[in-house]
Amino acid sequence: MIYSKIIGTGSYLPEKVLSNYDLEKIVDTSHDWILSRSGIVERHIAADNELTSDLALHASRNAIEAAGISGEEIDLIIVATTSPDQLFPSTACILQDKLGIKNRGPAFDIQAVCGGFVYALNTADMYIKGGQAKTILVVGAEVLSRMVDWNDRTTCVLFGDGAGAVVLQTSSSPGIIAGKLHADGNHRHMLKAEGNIRNGEIDGDPFLRMDGQAVFKFAVKVLSDVVEEVLEEKELVGSDIDWMVPHQANIRIIEATAKKLGLSMDNVVVTVANHGNTSAASIPLALDTAVRDGRIKKGQNILIEAVGGGFTWGALLIKW
Ligand code: UT7
Repeated sequence: MIYSKIIGTGSYLPEKVLSNYDLEKIVDTSHDWILSRSGIVERHIAADNELTSDLALHASRNAIEAAGISGEEIDLIIVATTSPDQLFPSTACILQDKLGIKNRGPAFDIQAVCGGFVYALNTADMYIKGGQAKTILVVGAEVLSRMVDWNDRTTCVLFGDGAGAVVLQTSSSPGIIAGKLHADGNHRHMLKAEGNIRNGEIDGDPFLRMDGQAVFKFAVKVLSDVVEEVLEEKELVGSDIDWMVPHQANIRIIEATAKKLGLSMDNVVVTVANHGNTSAASIPLALDTAVRDGRIKKGQNILIEAVGGGFTWGALLIKW
């Protein structure tokens, strides 16, 4: 049996930190409101000259170094992003060039908004299990700060920039052991950025818009459902999970999902306070944090889950 195993993780956060107190000077909000409703204290914001591919490059170099491989061994690059450098070529192709990888392995982006990393990792797992790749770089990278309306207090306080990456490799021992993805385009209006380019001009509202309350309710329901789906597939229960590494959108969503699964918050990796919602980057950022501080260890059961605009959602179970 062929498995795919994560052999290295990496992450990168831009230098500039924007606190809730800084936001009080920009929009009509307060540190107390943001903290109590979302659990966020601060977020990182990319510098003007930093692109998504630059954030991805730093995180990828970290992950490649941690994996102890050479870039040329990477035979597939997948970047999950909703804030690509440009309409095309893909951020994955730009990243391949910036990494100096010359082996002509495939590279493509996945667009599933905050569900992007779970989609990308599941896709990478299929490539390995199908024998089409042996060593894959999977990245989640975002500069959502450029897509939010800084006059809209209902959204601009929630998001941050960053990137996380993992190197996935063929293994004969269990790594990714279960995964399930879903989408429901019928709910696409609850979270969207409708703008597009038509005849050289921006057509439609270019900013990210969200019906926060509707997204909140939907998220808690589908996340606990999909987690139960993957646990049932392996005949496991919540208490078999050593670490849940959820998408970091809102501490209240994370707590509600953990509660539904009967999982203590002591077994949940939480980074939302310092990162905000970094969309597709949030899970690999949190994974890297918990790997590097020693919480995630060999042999443990790790569960990752996410939901995002589309709607897209999914969960993966990983034997570390
Ligand atoms: O990554 C996946 C996608 N995103 C999510 O998962 C986010 C899901 N949703 C949420 O996290 C929450 O719904 C929010 C954090 C966005 C909002 O929390 P809430 O408890 O649902 O607040 P609300 O939208 O019901 O707003 C409550 C009040 C409103 O005022 P009124 O109508 O009660 O007078 C808002 O206008 O809070 C007001 N409000 C604010 N006040 C201060 C909204 N944004 C702010 C703000 N500062 N930034």
